Amino acid sequence: MSKTAELHYDGKSYQIPVVEGTENEKALDISRIRAESGLITLDKGFKNTGSTESAITFLNGEEGILRYRGYAIEDLAEKSSFIEVAFLLIYGELPTTEELKDFQERIVHHTLVHEDVKSILDGFPSKAHPMGVLSSLVSSLTAFYPKSLDPNRSKEQVDGTIIRILAKLPTLAAWSYKNRMRQPVVYPNNNLDYCSNFLRMMFGLPTEEFDVNPVVSKALDKLLILHADHEQNCSASTVRIVGSSHASLYASVSAGIAALWGPLHGGANQAVIEMLEAIRKDGGDISKYVAKAKDKSDSFRLMGFGHRVYKNFDPRATIIKKAADEVLAELGVKDPVLDIAKQLEEIALKDEYFVARGLYPNVDFYSGIIYRALGIPTDMFTVMFALGRLPGWVAQWKEMRENNEPIGRPRQVYQGHTRRDYVNIANR
Ligand code: SDX
Repeated sequence: MSKTAELHYDGKSYQIPVVEGTENEKALDISRIRAESGLITLDKGFKNTGSTESAITFLNGEEGILRYRGYAIEDLAEKSSFIEVAFLLIYGELPTTEELKDFQERIVHHTLVHEDVKSILDGFPSKAHPMGVLSSLVSSLTAFYPKSLDPNRSKEQVDGTIIRILAKLPTLAAWSYKNRMRQPVVYPNNNLDYCSNFLRMMFGLPTEEFDVNPVVSKALDKLLILHADHEQNCSASTVRIVGSSHASLYASVSAGIAALWGPLHGGANQAVIEMLEAIRKDGGDISKYVAKAKDKSDSFRLMGFGHRVYKNFDPRATIIKKAADEVLAELGVKDPVLDIAKQLEEIALKDEYFVARGLYPNVDFYSGIIYRALGIPTDMFTVMFALGRLPGWVAQWKEMRENNEPIGRPRQVYQGHTRRDYVNIANR
């Protein structure tokens, strides 16, 4: 028996169906509320509004639960690989040995990009932020694969488009870095695994051999798994709403990269390191910065703290914090900002302001420390986030298209001028 809620308004009552999810989440289905009562809802930032029903990722902010297609993030981070997780998110099941081999081979055969991409890349100044370069290069794929523009083509065509973006993003990401460094690009080596291939294109040079450190490659693979999807976050919602107009997957992912770039979202990992560095340079007075974060007249926020959904702890932060200790020890790296991060976390978690607001370290708080230890420059951190999040964006876009969801077009409450007559300029 489906449940309903009752709305009483202006002397009338309205029955509102309640939708229940497989994890007992409940939602008011308000799709008929305007037609029946003339009312719409208002929820700035969609803090309490569901945009869809999805079977991809489940998270519970109160209990710190994150599962991809029902599998716990802790298990996947420990036992799976990024490519296997990408298959799981996009196609819904863990692959068999054969399926994984076929998936990897299809990806390997599409890692190259059209030579003309280099001319586009050369048009960017070396000071261009790699996220802006990456978003542009992804959008440029529509020029080289015009059939991808129609997401309603055959299933094979759409699947080919999915494989191409999975295969080419590491190449485009590494080339965005090479542009920053004004170094020649390195072409993919398809004998290497996904992460090793990326690291070689990032740090290698065309004129010399490059040996990938297995510790670095393994740590990167785990970080990409931890970033792979996070249900209807800002950038995934962007990918869905752009895709809902039947724009191509490449255009939708390009928009997702732009949304991720913001410091309140994926750009936070870069902002965390910049904040920790500033605290260190300022003598390491952590309590001064905790006080600034609490001071409403000060725009400073503790970057890497707080989350729209996790009000207890972000399970990814727990895993990454442990990995940071392990990776730095294995690489023999001492990073003073790691100590500052740990002290900051300790002070904040005892402070009423943070506890009362459920502000805990999120995925971005420790990830930058590992990226730094892996030799990845700060303004490439959010590019790493995009690399990890790609399978999630693809899975969200694919689910939205397969469910034939309507174009996203929210309503508003108008608060501007009511009707007024035009006044000639001579009389203003
Ligand atoms: C990601 O959505 C996702 O799933 C995102 C993500 C993913 O995987 O896709 O998890 C990745 O984006 C992680 C978040 C990275 N961003 C940061 O670390 C930036 C710092 N954090 C914030 O700005 C903030 O916490 C947000 C943006 C993450 C969440 O903001 P909300 O949910 O809109 O909450 P809010 O801004 O309304 O804050 C609620 C209160 C406010 O105080 P009051 O008005 O109640 O007094 O908490 C305060 C805020 O001022 N607050 C902070 C704070 N974050 C919130 N105060 C100090 N420092 C902070 N970091």
